[in-house]
Amino acid sequence: MANILTLTLNPALDLTVQLAQLRVGEVNRGEAMLTHAAGKGLNVAQVLADLGHAVTVSGFLGLDNPQAFDALIARRGFVDEFVRVPGETRSNLKLAESAGRITDINGPGLVVGEAEQQALFSRLERIAAGFDAVVVAGSLPRGIDPQWLKRLLGMLGKQGVKVALDTSGPALAAGLEAGPWLVKPNTEELGDVLGEAVESLVQQGDAARRLQAQGVEHVVISQGADGVCWFRGHSALQALPPKVQVASTVGAGDSLLAGMLHGLLRGDEPREALRTATAIAAMAVTQIGFGITDAQQLERLADGVTVRSLSE
Ligand SMILES: Nc1ncnc2c1ncn2[C@@H]1O[C@H](COP(=O)(O)OP(=O)(O)OP(=O)(O)O)[C@@H](O)[C@H]1O
Ligand SMILES: [Mg+2]
Repeated sequence: MANILTLTLNPALDLTVQLAQLRVGEVNRGEAMLTHAAGKGLNVAQVLADLGHAVTVSGFLGLDNPQAFDALIARRGFVDEFVRVPGETRSNLKLAESAGRITDINGPGLVVGEAEQQALFSRLERIAAGFDAVVVAGSLPRGIDPQWLKRLLGMLGKQGVKVALDTSGPALAAGLEAGPWLVKPNTEELGDVLGEAVESLVQQGDAARRLQAQGVEHVVISQGADGVCWFRGHSALQALPPKVQVASTVGAGDSLLAGMLHGLLRGDEPREALRTATAIAAMAVTQIGFGITDAQQLERLADGVTVRSLSE
């Protein structure tokens, strides 16, 4: 069992309203309303907890609507190192019609001031060395400059902490400059920051070498149903997931990241680590939520994963 810290700098409260049909500009009656605490770092935390790891969660949370987050943290037994910020954590409203159409309305969220940024930085500086790995996942809230993230990752790296980064856009570009231990972009996110297409295996290999040259030890590039490539030193492995019925892809990337950390920190043989991580991600897409709900199903999914070497 490893001791892992996950950072969710920009969590969200997901409010899902189920309704027959959305009538814009009219009063609509919801058939059901569900609220849940979301955010990529918190998703990774839950999958890691399912895998038996001890998890501490941190980042920024609004003081005014903490209930769903506090309940999740208590239910999962996470250690809470979130820095509380005046205002409300952003809400993301999902209007789900019976025919399957979903309309998203995402709130702007908190503005995180200098004092709170410093508070989180100092807290992490104090506690980070005690963890086997730190996961930084998701977007940045308003008020935070990507250069702050780069400084934060640099500080963690200097302490010898294994940093796993999963973000996009300017935050990914800045974070990469700090040379994290592991990154998990999808092909589109990586193409965006490198300014060139990253789709074919050759392009993925070229992109991975650029990141390795910046000091990234593990480059994990995901490509939805087409699976995942993992570059490490001179080795490159590709995993193709089994064909599954897709219920929702929410949490697929987060599950893959949690699975990779699990295998790496346990010291699993690389092919087995990648196989299990790919099965955990496939399991996420078969459910509305994510997480490890059925150990036998996970084994069946793992049997359906094809792992091959790209470097031989
Ligand atoms: N349709 C699918 N069937 C099987 N596995 C899938 C499917 N979609 C995604 N996966 C698995 O999940 C992994 C991550 O998916 P994807 O590349 O879409 O991540 P992502 O874009 O980062 O997702 P997220 O929105 O969660 O951040 C893939 O590498 C793959 O292993
Ligand atoms: Mg992702």
